[in-house]
Amino acid sequence: MAGARNGRGGTCGNPASVAGTLGRLFDRPLETAGGRRNPAPAPEGTGKTTTIRRLGEELDETKFKLLYLSDSKLTPRHFYKGLLEQLGCESKFYHGDAKRQLHREIELMRGIHRLQPVVVVDEAHLLDRKMLEELRFLLNMKMDSQSPMALILVGQSELWDRLGLQAYAAIRQRIDMQCYLPHLDRAEMGAYMKRHLSAAGAAHELFTEAAIDEIYRYSSGAARLVNKLCTHALIYGAQNKHRIVDIWSSV
Ligand SMILES: Nc1ncnc2c1ncn2[C@@H]1O[C@H](COP(=O)(O)OP(=O)(O)OP(=O)(O)O)[C@@H](O)[C@H]1O
Ligand SMILES: [Mg+2]
Repeated sequence: MAGARNGRGGTCGNPASVAGTLGRLFDRPLETAGGRRNPAPAPEGTGKTTTIRRLGEELDETKFKLLYLSDSKLTPRHFYKGLLEQLGCESKFYHGDAKRQLHREIELMRGIHRLQPVVVVDEAHLLDRKMLEELRFLLNMKMDSQSPMALILVGQSELWDRLGLQAYAAIRQRIDMQCYLPHLDRAEMGAYMKRHLSAAGAAHELFTEAAIDEIYRYSSGAARLVNKLCTHALIYGAQNKHRIVDIWSSV
């Protein structure tokens, strides 16, 4: 996930609190690069979308308006249409008109309702060059003196690799904060399983340490894979009337 961009001397609300909220949502240490705190691109199934859902729940609704887009083939036209629809407007057909329309809506939102838009583009590693360029222009308002919104790009690790290319330098320079959401380590994964099991009402330990080791070996700590392995192990264990999932029943 690439970061929330704030204004260069612009009037945009307080993006630092978006970043702060975003930072607090990571209940595990963030990876750092070059000594700089580098709070989300990430491998698949590590919890990027889950984190953004949580961000939506935690942001102060009286200050921020979260707009979320997730589309594997996002074009500029669909981008503006999607955002305008979430603002309750019917988008103009041509993308230039829709862009002006969005800027107007955002000015109204900020000027009258004192709301700062926070736009989240999920699956951003799939954006094509045209769409990435569009984001760059979108972030410039009033001859680049204001930034109309905080933008959060959420994607798998190749997003970062692409943004590292010279061709994307102008976009990269506009990113204020980068977060990398790593896989869970063994201890975090054990805690993650415990939290899930206790939320599901488990009264005693259901997995032996050896089974947890095995799940870690197979999943490398990717949350989605952990969920899948645990579910299958529990179904298998229940079908075979085991009280505990041990290494024999978990593989
Ligand atoms: N911190 C967490 N607490 C509870 N569940 C989590 C957490 N992180 C991830 N999960 C679970 O892991 C699964 C994958 O999470 P999510 O869809 O957010 O991953 P992702 O990184 O967005 O994946 P993708 O790269 O495929 O888009 C979901 O079922 C989600 O509920
Ligand atoms: Mg996702």
